[in-house]
Amino acid sequence: MKTKTALPAERRDFLRKLGVGSLAAWSLPSLAFETQLQTIAPYPGAAADEKYWQQIKKQFAVPENLIMLNAANLCPAPAAVNDEVRKMMLGLEKDVSFDFRSQFPDKRKKAIEALAGYMNVSGAEIGITRNTSESNNIVVNGLDLKPEDEILLWDQNHPSNSTTWEQRAKRYGFTVKKVGVPAAPQSVEDLIKPFRDAITSKTKVIAFSHISNTSGIALPAKQLCALAAEKNVLSHLDGAQSLGAVDLDLKDIGCDFYTSSAHKWFMGPLENGVLYVKKESMANLWPNIISAGWKESSQTVDEKYCMLGQRNEATMAGMLETVQFHQTIGKKNVADRVSQLNSYLKEQIKSKIPQITFVTPIAPELSGGVTVISLPAKKPADVAKVLYQTYGIAAAPTGGIRMSPHIYNTMSDLDKVVNALKEAAV
Ligand SMILES: Cc1ncc(COP(=O)(O)O)c(C=O)c1O
Repeated sequence: MKTKTALPAERRDFLRKLGVGSLAAWSLPSLAFETQLQTIAPYPGAAADEKYWQQIKKQFAVPENLIMLNAANLCPAPAAVNDEVRKMMLGLEKDVSFDFRSQFPDKRKKAIEALAGYMNVSGAEIGITRNTSESNNIVVNGLDLKPEDEILLWDQNHPSNSTTWEQRAKRYGFTVKKVGVPAAPQSVEDLIKPFRDAITSKTKVIAFSHISNTSGIALPAKQLCALAAEKNVLSHLDGAQSLGAVDLDLKDIGCDFYTSSAHKWFMGPLENGVLYVKKESMANLWPNIISAGWKESSQTVDEKYCMLGQRNEATMAGMLETVQFHQTIGKKNVADRVSQLNSYLKEQIKSKIPQITFVTPIAPELSGGVTVISLPAKKPADVAKVLYQTYGIAAAPTGGIRMSPHIYNTMSDLDKVVNALKEAAV
């Protein structure tokens, strides 16, 4: 049942921006404001309403002849985000005075508060970096570690949460241990056990991707963080593949550190990242990049770890609009839709192209928004090229063909993808 609810003034303003008075070069949907309220306001069950998602798709500039299946790498941003960024970029081109720029600290503060609300933590625990890599490096290089300490990593971690630790270990002499999980996990316990077995009294940190960018496996973050806390071990969760794709609640997950990028699933402005440090864990983390604005007395994550020198404040200004976009649709609706898209894609491939096998588990509780398939005979790089050049489908040739559909994709897009795979991949 669709219900029309009274929205706070901020969100009404945001919805108005979705439809009218846009600075966007491309055309936005010409829906009346009332119609937009009905179609875009969150309501339970939106994930199953195809018409709703067709309206959402119109908020993105991706042309009709292209299908972006590359959210694991980079996402387009909705028009309201781009409008804000473009307005601020142009503003800066015209006027770089301190007076004009005095609006940015307030925008940054509001974005941080909004991000904190979205992730269910406090504003003091959130900072805006440039990307996940930078956030990961802040954590890796900020902890005090001794030669006898051990760090436990998932062997599917991204280099920014793996090579980083190895480089530091070379310099300071601690031990890095890597944990593998079964290639075809059958249960959540299959994913927990290898970590449980590998933790020792020397383990100081366990660091892992929430969802793997290579296999699409989703680790049970809450259980692993609880396991770490039980053993007095810090937990570092790389959320590059989860922010904006899952119904995220960091308080519930209980990690000490969480990192992500705005330009992936979060559909935010380019070159913005997120760093969360649990209040109690700030005492364990030294700042390792310091520039103007940093003070010894800094108490918030943004002030203590994210004073990185001159930033592109124009793109950062789009962070607030991004959170509002997610809140307008509803965080759970977005997560349900991502799950529904992936389940549909997997089912269709399974039934229509049985020669293809899955690297990613089929079960939604063991996977996220990333679906990776293995090809029986052809090279992924060749197939990815044909998918893009012949069919306008942007997928990634990483360990097979990696597809990561998001809310700007429709079921009919996925039907086209399955037909293209049938012709080009086997
Ligand atoms: C799990 C994971 N961590 C970190 C990154 C790095 O993200 P960025 O390049 O935005 O820093 C990626 C990129 O794909 C990733 O998948």
